[in-house]
Amino acid sequence: MVDSNSTDVFGRVRLGYVVIGSRKLDAWKTFLTEGIGLHLACESADTLAWRMDDHARRLIVQNDDAEDVTAIGWELEDESALAIVLARLAGKGVQVDVVEGQQAADRGVRSLHRFVGPKGLTLELFTQPIMDTRPLAMLCSGFVTGRGGMGHLSFMSREPDRKAAFWRELFDARTSDRIEIAAGDRAVLDVTFLRMNQRHHSVAIAATRKFAVDMYRTRIQHLNLEAATLDDLSGAYERCSKLGYTFERGVGQHPNDRELSFYIASPSGIDLEIGWDALTLDEATWQAGRTYPNMSTWGHDIPGRFSSELKFSHLVHAARSLRKSEYLPW
Ligand SMILES: [Fe+2]
Repeated sequence: MVDSNSTDVFGRVRLGYVVIGSRKLDAWKTFLTEGIGLHLACESADTLAWRMDDHARRLIVQNDDAEDVTAIGWELEDESALAIVLARLAGKGVQVDVVEGQQAADRGVRSLHRFVGPKGLTLELFTQPIMDTRPLAMLCSGFVTGRGGMGHLSFMSREPDRKAAFWRELFDARTSDRIEIAAGDRAVLDVTFLRMNQRHHSVAIAATRKFAVDMYRTRIQHLNLEAATLDDLSGAYERCSKLGYTFERGVGQHPNDRELSFYIASPSGIDLEIGWDALTLDEATWQAGRTYPNMSTWGHDIPGRFSSELKFSHLVHAARSLRKSEYLPW
């Protein structure tokens, strides 16, 4: 039960929409409409937008040079939850801009509050999505959204503790668990899973231990969408196979959120994880503090590659990341 008088916004915030900047609009149109099976709701020279439920827009691709996620929309339960978060931002001295009218409608919301978040990602807060209850034309039965939001995002960071603190201080995020993977004698990858609501995690933060590097060009390493049924998951896999997309990881299962999933390279290089049956947490019984020694209980194999998960590009981006600092609003 959510207490709207509480100053704790846990359970009152969820992932609402994701904006990607890309020059490859045609490729994105085919990928998300014919491969993943989403409902193409808007198509213009500069913007594509898809629905996956009654929200007018869930995924938006804008014509720009980023080839990356550029903005993340977070839905707050009500005006009181929004006021709490805005007061926190004001207390930290963060500049917040109000966006209304057509610019807000372009995101599928009535209005939004915008500020620059971790790694320079634009974070947008809203309470009133524009709804579209017309029937969906999708190649699947649906996606899990609702109070847990539309999926999750995974970042890599050179400062994971500060990044995790940011989400705790902004949204009262809670740590669900961790994964700690030893690679050889020296290298360790730590992943922290943060939840804002019943979904096991809305944000995952990955980091190399001791020698901190960021191995990705993109600010978001992967975006997860949760399919409604196993048939929806297998259908997306089959369609993407036939369309010739590159699977970054085959079907497998994570040990912590128990989600069955596969990963596919999007036209902009961000991985899209399509999953099914991710854990919904019960706050009364969830045992925090677990650490798992592997990313997958089974599967998630990397097609065509053996033993090493490192690509040459990872090493290049790791080296480049040492030359620049990571932005945080506080
Ligand atoms: Fe994931």
